Amino acid sequence: MLSLLPLSTLLLVTQALASPLTGTESKPLPLLIWHGLGDNYAADGLHSVGDLANETNPGTYVYYIRLDEDAGSDRSATFLGNVTEQIAQVCNDIAEHDVLSQAPGLNALGFSQGGQFLRGLIERCGDRVNIKNLVTFGSQHNGIAKYQICKDGDWICKGYIGLLKANTWGAWVQGHLVPAQYFKTTNETTGEPTDEYLEASNFLADINNERKLKNVTYAKNLAALDNFVMYIFEDDTTVIPKESGWFAYTNITTEHVTPLRERDIYKEDWIGLKKLDEKGGLHFKTTEGGHMNLGDKVLKDVFKTYFSPAKASWNGVFESVQEIIEL
Ligand SMILES: *[C@@H]1O[C@H](CO)[C@@H](O)[C@H](O)[C@H]1NC(C)=O
Ligand SMILES: *[C@@H]1O[C@H](CO)[C@@H](O)[C@H](O)[C@H]1NC(C)=O
Ligand SMILES: *[C@@H]1O[C@H](CO)[C@@H](O)[C@H](O)[C@H]1NC(C)=O
Ligand SMILES: *[C@@H]1O[C@H](CO)[C@@H](O)[C@H](O)[C@H]1NC(C)=O
Ligand SMILES: *[C@@H]1O[C@H](CO)[C@@H](O)[C@H](O)[C@H]1NC(C)=O
Repeated sequence: MLSLLPLSTLLLVTQALASPLTGTESKPLPLLIWHGLGDNYAADGLHSVGDLANETNPGTYVYYIRLDEDAGSDRSATFLGNVTEQIAQVCNDIAEHDVLSQAPGLNALGFSQGGQFLRGLIERCGDRVNIKNLVTFGSQHNGIAKYQICKDGDWICKGYIGLLKANTWGAWVQGHLVPAQYFKTTNETTGEPTDEYLEASNFLADINNERKLKNVTYAKNLAALDNFVMYIFEDDTTVIPKESGWFAYTNITTEHVTPLRERDIYKEDWIGLKKLDEKGGLHFKTTEGGHMNLGDKVLKDVFKTYFSPAKASWNGVFESVQEIIEL
């Protein structure tokens, strides 16, 4: 029966019937997870997070964002690559994905740098990928002021950092070394970003709309979220300053923190955060422990509060096709 219908008809009928016939077996929206630096999409730890999401909200389809199907190459891409191109690739992958492209919306969970990359994806690719709720843990939304990446004794990593530090604002480094693209220097006296950052930053200065010309699409897309939940780790010593996870500015000398709501990016609403805040969608959260020291409890709370099917749901791809066959 199914094979007699041309595919285009089937899709049309599916869409037409999806809403009136449904409501009983609604599923949570699919979940995107973007891992951090040095991790890969196939890692056990990451999959245990996805499993917990499925356990908390049964039936959750989880997609682990990757830049390569090969786990080793995906890991390399956390260190090496042009973030603009990486986000464009992820945008295509999701927009063309069999299941994800059918869902009426998606939830997203970003760990560390994966958090600001998901935000970049929302801003740049909002017309093709419809993310409803974004949760970030230990991300660097206002950049990093120091490269604090290597473990003691990791000489390959130290060589990499040497390369980063030597020429952070050079075109080659900005086009190839990932952390440089969210590194940010600020004039400590004025609190203003430095000219070299504004001129050279390949990623952060753009998605934060810090340059004179603002992209209004970025603000529109971010303000359209239902929720943007930003967690920082209380004792984070890796992200410097850790308040970057809340878009705050920290004076490195005095450690005085200027919260987002007192900054121009918010007051002039460069990227839609003020609008989102005014409708109750912007959340500042703290969790205990060091960088990415995540327990099941906080994750479960997040899944229940923001990714529950009671808020937004769908029927999944298979159920819709099933209904046609039954007819
Ligand atoms: C979610 O859990 C159910 C059973 O609890 C399992 O059948 C299903 O395969 C899981 N889905 C994913 C994406 O892991
Ligand atoms: C603004 O961003 C959108 C989405 O990435 C892009 O299509 C558009 O070209 C950008 N506009 C400008 C003026 O750069
Ligand atoms: C990063 O990639 C984009 C898109 O290909 C390109 O326009 C840009 O110049 C690249 N950035 C750098 C610093 O090479
Ligand atoms: C910081 O800004 C002040 C005031 O505009 C200026 O005098 C100073 O040279 C700047 N410092 C640096 C390192 O650019
Ligand atoms: C940062 O602290 C220093 C030392 O107190 C002070 O001179 C400077 O004005 C502060 N910068 C900002 C932007 O508040």
